[in-house]
Amino acid sequence: MLVVRNAAQVVCVAADGSRRKCGADLRNIHIREQASVILRGERIDWLGPTSALPPLPPYAQVLDATGKTVLPGFVDSHTHLIFAGSRAEEFEQRLRGATYQEIAAQGGGINATVQRVRHSSAAELQALARPRLQRLLEFGVTTVEVKSGYGLSLADELKSLTAIAELNREGPWELVPTFLGAHAVPPEYGHDRAGYLRLLVEEMLPAVAEAKLAEFCDVFCETGVFRLEESRTLLAAAAKLGFKLKLHADELTPLGGAELAAQLNAASADHLLCITERGIDALAASGTVATLLPGTAFFLGMNYAPARKLIERGVAVALASDCNPGTCPTENLPLVGAMACTQMKMLPAEVVAALTINAAAALGRAERIGSIEPDKQADLTIFDVPDYRQLFYHFGVNHVWRVIKRGRVVHAA
Ligand code: NIG
Ligand code: FE
Repeated sequence: MLVVRNAAQVVCVAADGSRRKCGADLRNIHIREQASVILRGERIDWLGPTSALPPLPPYAQVLDATGKTVLPGFVDSHTHLIFAGSRAEEFEQRLRGATYQEIAAQGGGINATVQRVRHSSAAELQALARPRLQRLLEFGVTTVEVKSGYGLSLADELKSLTAIAELNREGPWELVPTFLGAHAVPPEYGHDRAGYLRLLVEEMLPAVAEAKLAEFCDVFCETGVFRLEESRTLLAAAAKLGFKLKLHADELTPLGGAELAAQLNAASADHLLCITERGIDALAASGTVATLLPGTAFFLGMNYAPARKLIERGVAVALASDCNPGTCPTENLPLVGAMACTQMKMLPAEVVAALTINAAAALGRAERIGSIEPDKQADLTIFDVPDYRQLFYHFGVNHVWRVIKRGRVVHAA
């Protein structure tokens, strides 16, 4: 039994079993002051005012959280952290005026990382990703979605997904694997897009399904990458094989990806920097979560996704890092939250809900994680601040004091 005693704030996020938050409800995060939480095994057993804390057995391990703030462990629902090498030289090229798409068209971008991943073993990919996962954990992230997508051949995608499965077994983090074989057309298929699509549908998707190495399938639906109708074909084939769906939608150009994600009942439509009015309507009428990645807009120097409009129209908004070597090389998810506040005008309470319950919904896990409620999994982060707003106000530094995963302290600052 682990007891988190007398926190200044316990931010429960949900208290009514709600499994996603939309509109005005997004800021309704159920804060308890001077509160304690009892964890039993891997579950949350009790929470309430410290004054009502029941007598504790002598074997209880007690963490004195006086003056501190407890949140559900953050959920990073969109990362590409299985990669090798750095793209710092492209960063400089972009600062000198080249665009992301120009660099990609010259063989840089995603395909530059693909070459490096193809030359790495599964063990090397694991060794490279492990410190990234550790940094995420140290920033309070207890569940991480991880995409493949820098292999782009059957063997290299299986190798990447195997690395994710091994890292998940290692823990203490919990990983959610996504197959993103449709991240780019690899160089050997440069003049044969149809051939790569056939390989994806006829060989790669069935092999990944058979090996049970991915829960989700994602597609980069973008000008110069996969067209809308190609994305529809791929996702429909994936759904038939039992994958849940995600889509990189309307990131750099407005192609109608948000509408497609809503039509296919995808768990999430991600990025949305260029979402149209019709896309917003489609998401609002669907169960699809809009996952916003402001770190990417920051790093590419682009306009941010219209978070306020999405929230006001009733879309369920989540936030994630997009951690990847090309468009957002950071594991600092609370800093991404600060960007959501200052650049997209999200309120700190909305950011907290977007990084917890709605991010869990984007991974189909809101029944189990994303809020502090009795019977949910005991994933908590304790921050050394007396008020949750200070996480984003005092930005760019790490306020984490303890991270608890499945009822166990897995990181102490
Ligand atoms: O989410 N949009 C596609 N994928 C990544 C970029 C990957 C890369 O540049 O390596 C993204 O922005
Ligand atoms: Fe991405």
